Amino acid sequence: MSEAMWGGRFTKTVDEMVNEFQASINFDKRMYHEDIAGSIAHAIMLSKCGIISEDDCGAILAGLKDIEGQIEAGEFDFSVDLEDIHMNIEKRLTEAIGEAGGRLHTARSRNDQVALDTHMYVRRETVAVLREILNLQAALVETAKANQDVIMPGYTHLQRAQPILFAHHLLAYFGMLSRDFARFEGVYQRADIMPLGAGALAGTTFPIDRELVARQLNFQQIYGNSLDAVSDRDYIMEFLSAASILMVHLSRLSEETILWCSREFSFVELDDAHCTGSSMMPQKKNPDVSELVRGKTGRVVGHLMAMLATVKGLPLAYNKDLQEDKEGIFDAIDTVKFSLGVYAQLIRGMKVKKEVMRRAVAEDFSNATDLADYLVKKGMPFRQAHAVSGTAVHTCLEKGCYLQDMSLEEYKKLSELFEEDIYEAISPETCVANRNSLGGTSYAQAARQLAAAEELLAAENKLQEELAQKQI
Ligand code: ARG
Repeated sequence: MSEAMWGGRFTKTVDEMVNEFQASINFDKRMYHEDIAGSIAHAIMLSKCGIISEDDCGAILAGLKDIEGQIEAGEFDFSVDLEDIHMNIEKRLTEAIGEAGGRLHTARSRNDQVALDTHMYVRRETVAVLREILNLQAALVETAKANQDVIMPGYTHLQRAQPILFAHHLLAYFGMLSRDFARFEGVYQRADIMPLGAGALAGTTFPIDRELVARQLNFQQIYGNSLDAVSDRDYIMEFLSAASILMVHLSRLSEETILWCSREFSFVELDDAHCTGSSMMPQKKNPDVSELVRGKTGRVVGHLMAMLATVKGLPLAYNKDLQEDKEGIFDAIDTVKFSLGVYAQLIRGMKVKKEVMRRAVAEDFSNATDLADYLVKKGMPFRQAHAVSGTAVHTCLEKGCYLQDMSLEEYKKLSELFEEDIYEAISPETCVANRNSLGGTSYAQAARQLAAAEELLAAENKLQEELAQKQI
């Protein structure tokens, strides 16, 4: 008979290489807290339902708490021979308390146990991700607020397009992050369903009380189908998908940060504490944080692809393939939390070079639309005004000047509608202030956005705190 906890029907021990290949302990040990909390709730339920005695339950609870202490003190020896966190803990428990330990797994399978642990782990980490999203959102709001009068060129095709407020640009990322927040809130809902009691796949012959387990572990819902309970990895795919979208947002912000702190743009300067140098070129100051976040985005997207492909062809219910759900999501959790955390620091430490941005706007034609709009407001059809403004740009290019440098006389040659007020109409400040349509870049709209952002932040904070309270 094999020594393994399931060794009864085996005549040989598992091949050493297979043993190592199939073990998950090296990565699933990070769910030890969830495994113990889940086992405590299960044992209490078994005893309340008269399936195990109160004495056995008491011994199990004490033994489990002891084991948790050992793990936290770094005194627990994890064994690859015991495959995973579930069997490592159960085996140690039985060694410590004897027969009672052997009763813990009554009416339970590792299939519903691992599902329970992972749900709880993802639920808790989702709350931690929400916290980090909030932190970065707050950093964006602070920076936008501190730079409300800063004008920069807005781009399309990475060509200067129209002047915008720097705050408006930052608040665009706030908007993306608030959708990320909502997406992770959705992930939370789907992780907040209790699978225990599904047994291996079909339920159990014991008179268990799943509601009691759900209540103890603060689950909002219980899976209504045991096959679904042990096979569902939607919440993991959803986490990875929300994480991928979030990372894509951070990656776009990274690309912009990298451009902005280049000599060519020089719109911002990153804090020395957030950059590194070159081992060869003494002058270098590299935006590594942004580059790494941009780089790590690929990894998170890769984990999503891996998970989708893993689940794609699986028959119900549990298949060992599902063990592959963990390394990807664990890495994605770490990457997302880290990336959000360093980005909040980076934004807070960034020096905004207002004068450089202002010069970039002045030395350009990003007010050409405003020139056309000026004529339209004086009665000219837009298509014709567009052509006049285009001709003005062309004239300037030939002369080597900008629109604000042309004389009124020259303007009059293009259209009689031009008056002295044209110069005021095409100044960057006017260009910005006049874009006062809802959600536009005007000072008034940016102030409105800021107020809305602060209100949303307060509501998100409240929700995050409520969810944090519910964690075991
Ligand atoms: N370590 C496994 C996993 O992560 C636990 C479930 C194993 N169940 C089984 N019947 N082999 O998925």
